[in-house]
This record gives sequence, structure tokens and C-alpha cells, in this order.
Amino acid sequence: MMIRLKMTRLSAGLLLVLQAFWVGPSTAEPPAAPAFSEQVSKQADIYQSRGVAVPEGYVVDRSLLSYSIALSPEFKQSLANLGPDDRWLDIGAGEGRAILDYCTAKYDAMLKGAEPSEKKASAIAISIEDRRTAQWHQTAASLDPNQIQYFFGKRLQEYSLEELGRFRVITDVMGAFSYTRYLSVFMEKALGFLQLNGNLYTVLQDVHSEHGTNRPFYPNASFLTEIVNADGSKVSVCAWLKSISCVEVTCELKPSWSPPIEVYRIRKVCNDVRVPGLAPIHFEAGTPPERRFLLTKSPVSAPGPAQRTRTESVR
Ligand SMILES: C[S@@+](CC[C@H](N)C(=O)[O-])C[C@H]1O[C@@H](n2cnc3c(N)ncnc32)[C@H](O)[C@@H]1O
Repeated sequence: MMIRLKMTRLSAGLLLVLQAFWVGPSTAEPPAAPAFSEQVSKQADIYQSRGVAVPEGYVVDRSLLSYSIALSPEFKQSLANLGPDDRWLDIGAGEGRAILDYCTAKYDAMLKGAEPSEKKASAIAISIEDRRTAQWHQTAASLDPNQIQYFFGKRLQEYSLEELGRFRVITDVMGAFSYTRYLSVFMEKALGFLQLNGNLYTVLQDVHSEHGTNRPFYPNASFLTEIVNADGSKVSVCAWLKSISCVEVTCELKPSWSPPIEVYRIRKVCNDVRVPGLAPIHFEAGTPPERRFLLTKSPVSAPGPAQRTRTESVR
């Protein structure tokens, strides 16, 4: 039986298009539109939702098996290659179940064959909201200090290199890469946390594929994540990733998923990483949100905690 990630979108709500995006803005800052902050606030409610209020599509407990089925085939080997001195960062980890699975013996068989490693890599889970379970706390207490850590209360973009350090493997399964309004800022940060020759594995659902052969999954809807040039022409996420300097990128469309997904492996091959800017021009809250970005030469920045609206506060 084929196991699929549950990747439901919220029903379409208010369509928000911020200013005419056919003309490039003079700065890459998103326009301060009330509707934009309304969507941002709705999105913050999703992050903070608990119990029955959690939208059906907001899945926070994917297993490591789900990760390995969804992500590029090389992911399993990358994880299996990690030694005790290596580090794995899971961005947008939800409950951190994939990391918990990594710590258990049953996954040694799945990932490494018969030979379990003596000691595993240390792993950090990052989430905006604290979704740690009793199982997380028990497992963390039974392991060496800092073998697994869970950071919350900030977005990935707000961490410094001093706080997080560098990682040989980074994953993001329906986490920040699918949810952020500041895709290029996020990617610049994530690649800064990746060590040389390390790999970042991630995924997007319902996106214009590398070869441009697919159509949006939902009738009369756009793709979930779109990038456009100033003249309105489309740029695939894969092409944008491949335009980043100092990375090698593979993109693989998985058309049989519902909705289809495209999975990315991004290998850092030198340190002079430069990420072409993406200014947010459309954002509609959801699981994940619907986003459109304008490819821009202007610098794009994300608001820090002090600039965020009160409703968006993550604490
Ligand atoms: C739908 S859950 C996915 C959880 C997990 N990866 C899984 O598959 O079960 C989305 C996660 O991404 C996190 N997230 C969204 N944007 C983020 C950002 N900019 N930085 C860090 N985490 C973020 C949320 O807080 C949440 O933990």
C-alpha cells in the first residue's frame, strides 16, 4: 500500500493580491495592506491551535518513515551516514516525531540495515509553536544532554549561527519552506546553517514543476506556491533554487501524490551562497498557505520579532 502524506489545503478563503505585481515594486518590502495582516493573523491562529481547533490539514506528527517516503531517495542514505559528531536539523518539526523515531532501534533496521550505529547524530527540532509531547520529554530525558533538542518561539530566520551552529543534514517537510512568507530569506538562512557538502531535503505540494508539465491540482485554483517575474512570466521553484549560487539542486515531481509534490535535494558545494530575492505579493492563510512571490533584484528582508504584529506573536 502506498503511504501518502496528508497534505490537505484549507478551503479557499479570501483571495488577496497585494498591489499589481506586474510592475516591480521600488523596494522588495511587502505592502502594508490590512488584508495581508488579516491573513498573517489567521496563519498565526493555525500555529497556535490546540486540540479540536487544529485544522485537519495541519499535520504535526509525521513519522521518519513518512519523511523517507516523501523526500528525495538520497535522504535515507544521508541520515544513515551520520556519525556521532554530525548534526541534523529538522525545520518545522511539529511534534518532532521524525527525530524521536530516529532515536529508536526499530529505525536502525529501516535506515542502516542490520548494523545499528553505536551512537547517533545529535538532532535539533525547530517549530514556531511548542508541540512537544510527553514522549518527547521522556525520550530527551533518557538520552545524553543535547542529543535531541527542541527550539520554539521563533522562526528559523530569527536564529543566528551562534545559536544553532551548522548541520550536515537539514530537513523541512511541510515546515517553514511551505509556510514562510519570506522564502528567499528563509533559504539564505537555512543554507547558512548547512555545512559544506551537507544536504537540505525539502518538499512543496501543488507547485509548477521543473519541466512545467503539470497543472494546479484544484480546478480554477493557482499553484500553492508561485514565483513570477516583473513581466508576469512564471518561474518554477526548481529554476529559482537552481539559480542560487554554490548549491547543486535536484528536483523530482511525484505526480501520483494527492496533491502532487515536488521534492528537492539541495547540496551546498561552496560558501559564497547568494539567493535571488523573492518578495511576497500574495498570501492566503492555510495548511499550507497559498503564496505568490515576485523575483526581484531588490533586497528582501523579513520582520524580526519586534516588527511583527501583536496577533502574529508566537509567544
Ligand atoms: C504542518 S507542521 C509540519 C510538522 C512536521 N514537519 C510534520 O511533517 O509532521 C508545520 C511546522 O512548521 C513550523 N514552521 C512554519 N514556519 C516556520 C518557520 N518560519 N520557522 C520555523 N518553523 C516554522 C510550524 O511551527 C510547525 O512546527
